[in-house]
Amino acid sequence: MNEGVIAIYPGSFDPVTNGHLDIIERGRKIFGQVVVAVLFNRAKQPLFSIEERLQMLREATARWDNVAVDSFSGLLVDYAIQCQATVILRGIRAVTDYEFEFQMALMNRRLAGEIETVFLVPSEAFSFLSSSLVREVASLGGSISGLVPRLVETRLADKVAVMDPSPRPQAALGDRSGLED
Ligand code: PNS
Repeated sequence: MNEGVIAIYPGSFDPVTNGHLDIIERGRKIFGQVVVAVLFNRAKQPLFSIEERLQMLREATARWDNVAVDSFSGLLVDYAIQCQATVILRGIRAVTDYEFEFQMALMNRRLAGEIETVFLVPSEAFSFLSSSLVREVASLGGSISGLVPRLVETRLADKVAVMDPSPRPQAALGDRSGLED
């Protein structure tokens, strides 16, 4: 383990899935500390508020002593430098993730050459999993058991219960589409 190394694991986490937790667990075995950093982005309309996402992440990672949860806005590299992190941790599920991740890694390197992006691959059981799919399946009444922590399953069920029952479920799911975290 690289004891002195702090790694940032950034994302939207709307909501956290078992795929994210798989990456966090792998990361915490490699690095001294993993800071899970939730992007606070006013331009996007998430399903869960920043406070809700932080709370779910904190509960889901409470068992790991070298994992912290925080939020950030602005440039990721600025936040990483503020945290004294030297690694940005990202998960790659499939080839489709690669192009975007590659662009981000190179842009972040250009902005802060001392910070290295490290990619980890989650268990194949989660290679199809994304927060957007979880939101969609939950809103349409499908089972997401085993794909998210129990507490997230409950919170999603609560959200779905208060959603507009008119047949426009995607509109209630936030503005995201495709395979994103
Ligand atoms: O879970 P996501 O949506 O794939 O995470 C994307 C995230 C939060 C890692 C990315 O959008 C990000 O780092 N945003 C912060 C703003 C920034 O630094 N942009 C330049 C990145 S190259």
